[in-house]
Amino acid sequence: MKPLQINEDISLAATLPASFYRNPATFDLVKEKIFARSWIWVEDATVLNEDQNVYPFTFLEGVLNEPLVFTRDKSDQVHCLSNVCTHRGKVIIETPSKSRLLTCGYHGRCFDLEGQFKRMPEFKETKNFPTAADHLTAIPFKKWLGMLFVSLDPKVDLEEMVRPIMERLSFLPLDEMTFDASTSKDYYVDANWALYCDNYLEGFHIPFVHPALNDALEFENYDYEISPYCNLQLGIGKADEPCFDIPEGHPDFGQRVYAYYYWLFPNLMLNFYPWGLSLNIVLPTAHNKTVIKFRSYLFPNNTMSPNENRLDDTEMEDEAVVESVQLGIQSRYYQQGRFSPTMEKGVHHFHRLVAEFMNT
Ligand code: FES
Ligand SMILES: [Fe+2]
Repeated sequence: MKPLQINEDISLAATLPASFYRNPATFDLVKEKIFARSWIWVEDATVLNEDQNVYPFTFLEGVLNEPLVFTRDKSDQVHCLSNVCTHRGKVIIETPSKSRLLTCGYHGRCFDLEGQFKRMPEFKETKNFPTAADHLTAIPFKKWLGMLFVSLDPKVDLEEMVRPIMERLSFLPLDEMTFDASTSKDYYVDANWALYCDNYLEGFHIPFVHPALNDALEFENYDYEISPYCNLQLGIGKADEPCFDIPEGHPDFGQRVYAYYYWLFPNLMLNFYPWGLSLNIVLPTAHNKTVIKFRSYLFPNNTMSPNENRLDDTEMEDEAVVESVQLGIQSRYYQQGRFSPTMEKGVHHFHRLVAEFMNT
């Protein structure tokens, strides 16, 4: 594949080419160049609890398909390990459980919760055994805001990526949010994952596509801020809309902030509202199929509830345009487009990062 070039000057730049979104061979490269090297949200940390300290999962199903397992040991240390037996390769743990050992169901090889080989029947006569290769590989993971993130080969530190978010939102009780299963759900979109991100990264379409949201926001004051690996769209609300109570001295004090729409490269959207966080995780399953997981977190002592109907209507409107773009980019008459320097800074930022990861 030719290197992707996105001019750093948005007024001169063109968008990613249509082939990036429609070509299955390019998607195979995206898996390794972007998804294997990024921090990907996996689950809420409450999957490890009193009743289960072993939580197996397939990391990026349909993309990397890596069998992994989270464990929590006696001293409450969490580990992320390869879930593939070092004997003949069976997946070790199939279902979440409470256990002190990871035991393979094929020939009985046992590992402790740190992934160290412990024992195995009929191996006494095996010479030079066990070695380091017989332990389970430890996989890089992070816990952030009570959520678990994994990266097979991280290119950038997660703390560094999220620093601008933590600084800007330091006035909020981010560490005390609680997961709200009742307003969490999954959406299935027939489109390339990056088209869904492109759409999220501009508010340009709000007056055209989202009539109800447009009635709530002061579109003239909509603002974009770019950081190295995340960006912010600041939604200012109309007078009768709920807004954040921002302390004096904060850079946003005096503004009616309706939402902080943060995006974290490559596939995470963190929409902070006065009631809490609506997290959208964009997970490709094929070059033209994507699952969007919506997960809600509530601030403590919150009296407002997530405006579910508005979130759901907005999502339906977004899916319809994104699926229409998926059809359009397959046309022989479309190659690539140009950017609005005022309204498409976020999309330009995303395309620059895609090019950076794909070219190195
Ligand atoms: S494959 Fe696990 S014990 Fe043989
Ligand atoms: Fe939208």
